[in-house]
Amino acid sequence: MTSARVHAREWRANDAANVWELVQDQDTLFGPPGLIASLQDAEAWVEQELADQAAPERIKYRFALHLIDGGALIGGCRVHWEDVRNRMASIGMALHGAYWGRGYGTEVGELVLTLAFERLNVHRIEALIQPSNARSLALVRRAGFTKEGLLRERILDATWIDTEVWSLLDHEWRARIS
Ligand SMILES: CC(C)(COP(=O)(O)OP(=O)(O)OC[C@H]1O[C@@H](n2cnc3c(N)ncnc32)[C@H](O)[C@@H]1OP(=O)(O)O)[C@@H](O)C(=O)NCCC(=O)NCCS
Repeated sequence: MTSARVHAREWRANDAANVWELVQDQDTLFGPPGLIASLQDAEAWVEQELADQAAPERIKYRFALHLIDGGALIGGCRVHWEDVRNRMASIGMALHGAYWGRGYGTEVGELVLTLAFERLNVHRIEALIQPSNARSLALVRRAGFTKEGLLRERILDATWIDTEVWSLLDHEWRARIS
């Protein structure tokens, strides 16, 4: 998938060093804190990724993100089916901090939404975001998501963390892009 400045591609077997380099910026880039704490963890992450790609009924779609101009790897994004029968998916993305504040997140958001709504036929996308994550909140607001509420103490980190739940529906997306 390609937008004006970013190319999204599937993760490959030789990507462990790339993943390891990206998580040097922030250890939460590809999952819960500490999930990738070593190059070996990055190798295991990539191995799991390849297994998810090969699953007969694919649930998880994850992509590496490169700048078209120069090819730098800037982060990753994902769409996960959460409830296939009810056509509900979650989305996520993480960029290396050096690439924040330049509109790449907004651009990648459109790629992810296009994949979900146009190609996977998702009806409802859900994003769970910590109230302190101002950049992510601004991003989903810009993309037309609606805040539905606060899930109290939904995540266990060093302490229990609340998350806001935001959603975008397929007809809302189509109305926005038409
Ligand atoms: C979520 C995340 C991808 C958002 O990144 P971001 O850089 O804020 O998002 P964008 O790329 O859309 O950037 C928007 C900013 O770029 C600016 N910008 C510059 N050029 C732009 C362009 N061509 N188009 C749009 N915006 C542009 C906007 O004005 C805006 O600036 P502001 O932040 O000062 O208001 C990033 O913060 C991240 O990776 N966080 C860590 C992981 C994470 O929390 N993921 C979400 C878990 S729920």
